[in-house]
Amino acid sequence: MLVTVILAAGKGTRMRSDLPKVLHRLLGLPLLEYALEATASLGPDLRVVVVGHARGKVEAAFSGRGIVWAHQDPQLGTGHAAHCGVEAAAGSVEDAEGVEVLVVNGDLPLLRSETLTALLETHRGTSAAVTVLTCVKPEPAGYGRVLRNDDGFLRDIVEESDADEATRRLQEINVGTYVFGLQEFRECYSKIGRGNAQGEYYLTDVVVEAARGGKRVATFRVEDPEEIEQVNSRAELARAGSLLRCRLLDRYMAEGVTILDPETTYIEKGARIGRDTTILPFTMIERDVEIGRGCEVGPFCHLRPGARIADEAVLGNFVEIKNSQIGRASHVRHLSYVGDGVVEDGVNLGAGTIFANFDGKKKHTAVVRKNASVGSGAVLVAPVTIGEGAVVGAGAVVPKGRDVPAGAVVAGVPARVIQRGKRKQEQAESPGTSGA
Ligand code: UD1
Ligand code: CA
Repeated sequence: MLVTVILAAGKGTRMRSDLPKVLHRLLGLPLLEYALEATASLGPDLRVVVVGHARGKVEAAFSGRGIVWAHQDPQLGTGHAAHCGVEAAAGSVEDAEGVEVLVVNGDLPLLRSETLTALLETHRGTSAAVTVLTCVKPEPAGYGRVLRNDDGFLRDIVEESDADEATRRLQEINVGTYVFGLQEFRECYSKIGRGNAQGEYYLTDVVVEAARGGKRVATFRVEDPEEIEQVNSRAELARAGSLLRCRLLDRYMAEGVTILDPETTYIEKGARIGRDTTILPFTMIERDVEIGRGCEVGPFCHLRPGARIADEAVLGNFVEIKNSQIGRASHVRHLSYVGDGVVEDGVNLGAGTIFANFDGKKKHTAVVRKNASVGSGAVLVAPVTIGEGAVVGAGAVVPKGRDVPAGAVVAGVPARVIQRGKRKQEQAESPGTSGA
């Protein structure tokens, strides 16, 4: 049986925030989401998250996800947090024998699930009591240092605040991710104290206790130091976000999306982009956005949640799209806002087209039917529909409810029909044909 325990009870003092650290967002998702995602791939039988500081907020943000919440109050350190998690899990475990507990710090958003799998395999392959994830980091500041015996076995883990000069120079660090046998954890936890610089029960001391007690302590080294970036401060949040952003952009490019300038392109997790679409510089694409194939997006384009862009659409400079559909081969090339809109295929929205979707209380939908054309600087006050093939003149304001018939041409403020729909017009010009 496998239990995962994510430690997320800390206040995150170094964030200097009213929001708990694990709710700060990276690429649109709360920090905790990344640990949940990475551990989910191991297929645990039980998923425990340890919460304490502002736990109501954390639990609310992740309700209905099948998580067992363990409460740590007060927060007496990572060892104490893991103990709270282990005991919460033990309540649901019939037999502690053979239960494996994977403990992960909640502030490691770049950890790959493959690494966790390899850690678990090492633990099983070596029949260890405890297996610790380590990394050699040329700039190890801020991490606990791993000390080894001459024979290579782990001897100690020393926090930076407890380390002397020589220890601080060591480059092998503790990542903050471990596998314990449940019983071994209990046994070793009962023996640790809090006589350290921070006056806390350190999880690292549980590991060291196991080593000193003659238990088998294995280590697994993660090669890529990027994976172990932790988030203690807002500067680290930004750095981790930037690394995640690059990782995600690489994935889109591998799937056939052209990104002209990855440095200035921000795409959140959960956006879907079709192949042969080109993203131009300074573009922001939020989560829950779908873009089809062969589109051109940007530069300076902002796509917000609910944007659905069909194949071959063109979205240009300073265009914002929210909760709207843009049809196949439709163009929104300059300076426009489309909110709560349905834009069908082959539509052209001229420069500066605005969908006025909000009446001060409610949001409404505006629809632009196939092959319609909207002139520069037009305002469509929703709810309203622009009919198929209709033309809205430059600068027109189409008031709410004043639908424009198919094929009609409207202009002015408020917009009036200056030419009726094509079909009707043809009938008017040749009354003999349809009447006879
Ligand atoms: C910890 C490790 C350190 C390691 C580093 C790497 C210890 C003692 N030190 O230090 O060796 O190099 O992570 O990431 O474990 N938490 C609780 N309850 C608490 C305290 C913390 O749930 O009482 C949670 C936090 O919310 C956080 C995680 O545990 O998600 C780690 O805590 P943090 O304070 O960031 O530990 P570090 O000082 O970074
Ligand atoms: Ca940390």
